[in-house]
Amino acid sequence: MTTTETAGWPADLLAQEFRGKRVLVTGSSRGIGAAVAAAFAQLGARVAIHGRDRAAVEAVAAAMGAGTENGVIGLAGDFADKGQTRAVVEQAVDRLGGLDVLVNNAGTMLGRVALADIDDGFLQEQFNLNAASAVVASRSALPALIASRGAIVNTGSISGRTGGSAGSSLYSAAKAFQASLARSLATELAPHGIRVNAVSPGTIDTDFHQRYSTADKLAQTAARIPLKRLGTAEDCVGAYLFLASNRLAGYITGQTIEVNGGQFYN
Ligand SMILES: NC(=O)c1ccc[n+]([C@@H]2O[C@H](COP(=O)([O-])OP(=O)(O)OC[C@H]3O[C@@H](n4cnc5c(N)ncnc54)[C@H](OP(=O)(O)O)[C@@H]3O)[C@@H](O)[C@H]2O)c1
Repeated sequence: MTTTETAGWPADLLAQEFRGKRVLVTGSSRGIGAAVAAAFAQLGARVAIHGRDRAAVEAVAAAMGAGTENGVIGLAGDFADKGQTRAVVEQAVDRLGGLDVLVNNAGTMLGRVALADIDDGFLQEQFNLNAASAVVASRSALPALIASRGAIVNTGSISGRTGGSAGSSLYSAAKAFQASLARSLATELAPHGIRVNAVSPGTIDTDFHQRYSTADKLAQTAARIPLKRLGTAEDCVGAYLFLASNRLAGYITGQTIEVNGGQFYN
């Protein structure tokens, strides 16, 4: 008899999956990460919220902690800095008492810069934040994830496949790294029972685009998306929960789920 036949499909499946699970969502002080973290918390997980600004993170954590069984903790650190990235993950593991799910989501475009104007500092910061931080965080979480036979979910981007729009070459390449990294680590970490996957959001209407896109550009993009609208942070949540769930995705590793309304171009 298979596990599925034994267990059936309970109405509270997601709560059964995540109740008491220890989850770190990096970059969860707003946007996609905040929506994902809130969902885990509402399903009974013990969640670590993360962002750069300690006061902002604590405020978000306090708001999300209301009504959850074990509360939510807030951690601050700049993920362009490898030492701070390590420290945040170590604090999460320490304060949560282990780790079942790591969502590598912290990141942003940092600016639209044409190749001729990319200096070494910008190149390094882009790589550190949008590519290397997921490596550093995953490496720091590894002993805890081995102990829990846990799951990693990286945040990639549609721009990792399309190359992105003007001035986003480094950001887009770094986001492609997230999908590749998930595929490689899936093979490497499978013997430990750790699954590694990625979510690749399309154009999601968060603060990100308030900073890096004009209203005109967003309206043109929305018109070209087959589902005829931009995505929301909430639209992304299901893919993260699905990939983090051993019951729903226990035989899925090394994959990337595109959440983009059918959009595969700029
Ligand atoms: N929005 C989209 O259309 C879209 C599409 C594809 C992929 N993505 C990716 O999805 C993820 C979330 O994006 P979002 O749209 O939700 O953006 P957002 O609203 O700007 O949120 C970004 C999150 O990452 C954190 N973060 C940014 N820079 C950081 C740094 N140096 N150190 C630590 N944390 C940092 C932010 O914390 P602070 O508040 O402290 O800055 C915030 O919590 C990012 O990895 C982004 O690349 C977004």
